Amino acid sequence: MPHKGANHRRISAASVRLTALLDAAVDPIVLIDPRGRISGFNRAAEAVFGYSEAEVIGKNVSVLMPQPYRDEHDGYLARYVETGSRRIIGIGREVVAQRKDGTTFPIDLSVGEFKTDAERGFVGILRDITQRKRQEAEIREATEELRLIFENTPTPVTITDINGHVLNANRACEILLGYSAQELKEMRHSDLVVEEDRQEIRAEFSKLHQEGERFGREIRYRTKDGQIMYALLQAGVARDTKGEPLLMICEVIDRSRVFEVAKEAEDLRTRLAHVGRIGTLGEMVSGIAHEVNQPLTAIANYASAARRLVLAGAVDPEELAEIHDKIAIQAERAGQVIRSLRNMARKREFLREPLDCGMLVGEVTKLIDFELRARGWKLLVSIAAKLPPVLGDGVQIQQVLLNLIRNALEAMIEKASGDFVQVTAAPVDGSWIDITVSDCGPGLSHDAEDRLFEPFFTTKSQGMGLGLSICKSIMSAHGGELQYRRNSRGGADFIMRLPVSSP
Ligand SMILES: Nc1ncnc2c1ncn2[C@@H]1O[C@H](COP(=O)(O)OP(=O)(O)O)[C@@H](O)[C@H]1O
Ligand SMILES: [Mg+2]
Repeated sequence: MPHKGANHRRISAASVRLTALLDAAVDPIVLIDPRGRISGFNRAAEAVFGYSEAEVIGKNVSVLMPQPYRDEHDGYLARYVETGSRRIIGIGREVVAQRKDGTTFPIDLSVGEFKTDAERGFVGILRDITQRKRQEAEIREATEELRLIFENTPTPVTITDINGHVLNANRACEILLGYSAQELKEMRHSDLVVEEDRQEIRAEFSKLHQEGERFGREIRYRTKDGQIMYALLQAGVARDTKGEPLLMICEVIDRSRVFEVAKEAEDLRTRLAHVGRIGTLGEMVSGIAHEVNQPLTAIANYASAARRLVLAGAVDPEELAEIHDKIAIQAERAGQVIRSLRNMARKREFLREPLDCGMLVGEVTKLIDFELRARGWKLLVSIAAKLPPVLGDGVQIQQVLLNLIRNALEAMIEKASGDFVQVTAAPVDGSWIDITVSDCGPGLSHDAEDRLFEPFFTTKSQGMGLGLSICKSIMSAHGGELQYRRNSRGGADFIMRLPVSSP
């Protein structure tokens, strides 16, 4: 029939066009009829599945699926055709497809329904998502790996937002601070440090966001059970590509042990300083006794003079009052020596208080002056006006000075080449104070110069060789130093350098 023939040609032309269109598509396209039989299979589908179009035309589309989808599919399609209930059609989802060789691969499948006068069916467009799936898996693995690393890092770490609110805290952090990660997530990192230090640490954090990269400082934390813990906090900031801060990473390193050791060392140094001081004072006993004896003798003399006046009946009240004033002055002088002696001999904790170096020097020179005078030598003292305060333990600083002056004296006894010891106190660069003890002794040999500060190094028959090593450790405990240099007279200069306390 001509009419039918013409119609046939028209269909053919349309189907050629359709085939060309389908083949031009990059994605595999499969057409099926309402009973699930394959009615179209484009080139991309051939390439992906390994079937030729001829092999699959008329076959149930389930050949393209692995079990269990294969068996489920017929039922599914039938249900849709009967009830219109949709699982994939018009929606699309991720399913698994099977190639001719039996291998399977994930696809993103979108299915649409088509209806023409001539036929009705479904068009499935497939996208191989193996690559995407692999990337997703890789990202998942990498994320999991990062999570594991964070969780199991031996150093306690918190991650916070830029306001310091904890976003995450690892196991080590939970153990160290006693809070669960959940509890930590309801806190700010600064809430974890002791009350007094919070303000300061918040300021540090905001400075870090504004300009910094990282900072580290020793700070006290309070654990959940109320204990104070000394820790080193190291904080870093993570920024985006524009330099905006995103996150803060805070490492909390437990320093309690280090702190304890430092405390033990300090106790030890304090004890050693005390022993050293007692030793030095012991050596000075006869001199000091003499120093106290002098005013006592004077007092006795004034007292008997007063007695004589009274007994002679020629009492001039003016004269008597004058004698009593002199007695009082002498008593005060003896009292001063005894007070500073007792102060020096007392055993006590290492102190940190603002000190006036001029006053410290004055007190020490009073104690030792007599020993020099007894030999006809002079103790020259020069103290710069308005010395800024230093921070530390006055008695220990005096102990260093006393030791240095005694060493100077002992060196000069060996070789009488001059007749004075000079003590000066002067500021240096606005940040230090130098107290220098200068003598007229023989100075040090090169060998002695190198070993000077070693414990038990002595050139004296009765020497212990501990004086200078104790002095050195006292100076470094004050953030200062002790140095030797030969002076222009060939004698020794010992320089005590102390940091000025910042206001
Ligand atoms: N002012 C000084 N002049 C020369 N030598 C000194 C001086 N001060 C210290 N020394 C040397 O350093 C040594 C160690 O001094 P020190 O540690 O005080 O121990 P000691 O006084 O018990 O010997 C002394 O034995 C001496 O040789
Ligand atoms: Mg000595």
